Amino acid sequence: VALAQNFQLLALGEAAMKKLTRILVPVDFSTASREAAEHAVALARCFGAKLELLHVWEPPRYVAPDVMIALPGWSATSVEKVAVTAAQKELSEFTARLLPEGLSVSTRVDVGEAAHTILRVAEETMADLIAMGTHGRSGLARMLLGSVAQKIVSHAPCPVLTVRHAE
Ligand SMILES: Nc1ncnc2c1ncn2[C@@H]1O[C@H](COP(=O)(O)OP(=O)(O)O)[C@@H](O)[C@H]1O
Ligand SMILES: [Mg+2]
Repeated sequence: VALAQNFQLLALGEAAMKKLTRILVPVDFSTASREAAEHAVALARCFGAKLELLHVWEPPRYVAPDVMIALPGWSATSVEKVAVTAAQKELSEFTARLLPEGLSVSTRVDVGEAAHTILRVAEETMADLIAMGTHGRSGLARMLLGSVAQKIVSHAPCPVLTVRHAE
């Protein structure tokens, strides 16, 4: 029994010592995601953690094929390139406004379905915390959590800090 108790204590000690080294902040440029980013900056400062700000560009789901063909010189990839370049610029400006001086921050823009991509990046980069808004840009504040937030909270490989923007 004593041995088991010791092991339990060891296990608790290990949990308490879990390090915060990589914080992933999914950003959709909503106020809630900005507030989440501010909390992430404060945490990163405290723990000396690295921050990664991620925006996911979701290709439009319903684009009639003839519309794509009807636009001369515009292939699906070039639409994507234009969108990703614009998102990269917006994310850089968003990050600059956050002013994390002396803090290690990286930004990335990925293409795909938002929740799926956020989960993939969290796994690939071995994030040990995800900080995000409870809601985003869809404006469905009556939902308990936005649709992306729901999926991340349910499937994240690490703890999730959700920040609600009080209207
Ligand atoms: N395309 C995206 N790229 C990165 N993060 C996102 C994206 N969409 C949503 N998020 C993150 O998820 C949070 C919740 O947004 P979401 O679940 O989409 O709510 P809503 O349904 O109100 O738009 C946002 O505050 C943001 O942190
Ligand atoms: Mg949304």
